[in-house]
Amino acid sequence: MHDSHRKHRETDGGGGLTAHVFRALGNYKIWLFAACGIFVIPHFSFADKAAQPPIPDLPLGEAIGQVLAMPGDAEYGAYLATECVTCHQQHSVNHAIPAINGLPREYFVEAMLEYKYHLRDNSVMQAIIGSLGMEELSALATYFSTKD
Ligand code: HEC
Repeated sequence: MHDSHRKHRETDGGGGLTAHVFRALGNYKIWLFAACGIFVIPHFSFADKAAQPPIPDLPLGEAIGQVLAMPGDAEYGAYLATECVTCHQQHSVNHAIPAINGLPREYFVEAMLEYKYHLRDNSVMQAIIGSLGMEELSALATYFSTKD
């Protein structure tokens, strides 16, 4: 029994550990390559698309209506606004960054959603609105409309 076992291993062709592992993998090799492709390809060819949040399916007019219909919690808006005022100062010191204090709610919501729908083309604001939900947008609109 011992003898036949040893004989089998000796006639196995040798080739060392690597050959052994490759033989053991058999058809799985192709799946390993496929799996690598699935993980690696998106990082190259689709990287730009993934960086931009997608345009929502809901028509813009309906989205504006939905946000305006929410009450909009000014206190919550004030909390969220700390992220905005690092760029948006009380008075526009820089023409590229408009002041947003006192903007009417309707204008504010429409402007923000125009970034979301890529009708306004500013990648910074597009990324910012992409991270905000409807309720957050409503709260910010209330807060900024009451600031002067
Ligand atoms: C990194 C800087 C930066 C931050 C942070 C930022 N913004 Fe902006 N924002 C801009 C710039 C630049 C523009 C002008 C873009 C353009 O030309 O369309 C803008 C435009 C806007 C406008 C349009 C103003 C108008 O008069 O039409 C609104 C509204 C606005 N931002 C709201 C916000 C809110 C709310 C936040 C926080 C949640 C925020 N922004 C955070 C840079 C910033």
